[in-house]
Amino acid sequence: MKVLVTGSSGQLGSATVNHLKAYGHDVYGIDVIPSATTNKLIDIKDKDSVEKVTRGFGVIIHTAAVHGKHYELNYPKEAFIETNIMGTLHLLNACVKNEVNQFLYTSTTSIYGSALVDDHKAVWVDESLIEKPRDIYDITKQTTEQLCKNFFYKEGLQTSVYRVGRFLPEDDNLKINHRLYRGLDERDGAEALRLGLDTVFNDFEVFNISSGSPFGRADLIALKHSPADVILQYFPEAAAIYQRKNWIFPKSIDRVYICDKASQYLGYQPQYTFEYLLHQ
Ligand SMILES: NC(=O)c1ccc[n+]([C@@H]2O[C@H](COP(=O)([O-])OP(=O)(O)OC[C@H]3O[C@@H](n4cnc5c(N)ncnc54)[C@H](O)[C@@H]3O)[C@@H](O)[C@H]2O)c1
Repeated sequence: MKVLVTGSSGQLGSATVNHLKAYGHDVYGIDVIPSATTNKLIDIKDKDSVEKVTRGFGVIIHTAAVHGKHYELNYPKEAFIETNIMGTLHLLNACVKNEVNQFLYTSTTSIYGSALVDDHKAVWVDESLIEKPRDIYDITKQTTEQLCKNFFYKEGLQTSVYRVGRFLPEDDNLKINHRLYRGLDERDGAEALRLGLDTVFNDFEVFNISSGSPFGRADLIALKHSPADVILQYFPEAAAIYQRKNWIFPKSIDRVYICDKASQYLGYQPQYTFEYLLHQ
């Protein structure tokens, strides 16, 4: 299968290029920054270049974006709209024009925004939670998800959406803590995209993609106020390991990302979980 990956020099994009190649896919990467996983420098804001470069592909996996870290760097709102909305629209239009069959869109769990806040308990975040975007980044991701939906039903393009959890650079302690409820290893993200590539969708579908979580709904109140007690119920061995590594347990867990839908529809099973890091 001939696959075009946008954002191929980025963290998720490069992992996706490498992962798909390992599975025998014919992969071509585009980005504005050169790297070993990028074949051509293309700015997705440039409609004509996008139209040309997308010819002959069966699938586009779209990871390029101006995102959360750029929001913290005070990028102007226009930069988010131009890259995330207009750039994606150019790609979607090019799919229709060039008869690309499938478009996988990388969105974000931060789209849930202020729906992630509850003073009394951790929030159970599955795809039925109504998103309440908090900033321009979330707004552009929400708008673009809607564009993908529109192209699915109006243009017959196989679009699907992957709301990925957090995989920003972090120290080991924060990283392992996040893997309990909101983190993601980009290699698992790449695997979710590979599984999406092999799926034919009858309806437009949106998936949460994270490292998964050991917790159940019955844990939500305790997770907010005394997460260490809950963690030790599931992983008693964590006490000694945390002590040995000088790690500290989270003081509060405010949300739990659920990716059961991706498991059921795609067969997604994250490998690089809390348990994996704990026993490394
Ligand atoms: N990193 C996270 O924690 C996180 C969390 C949730 C969602 N996401 C989403 O996952 C995707 C990948 O994130 P990442 O962390 O790998 O990002 P990244 O910044 O590492 O990579 C993004 C790539 O897109 C490229 N790009 C930006 N603008 C472009 C343009 N106009 N034309 C072509 N290429 C362009 C960049 O050069 C970069 O290489 C993004 O869509 C992001 O919104 C990331």
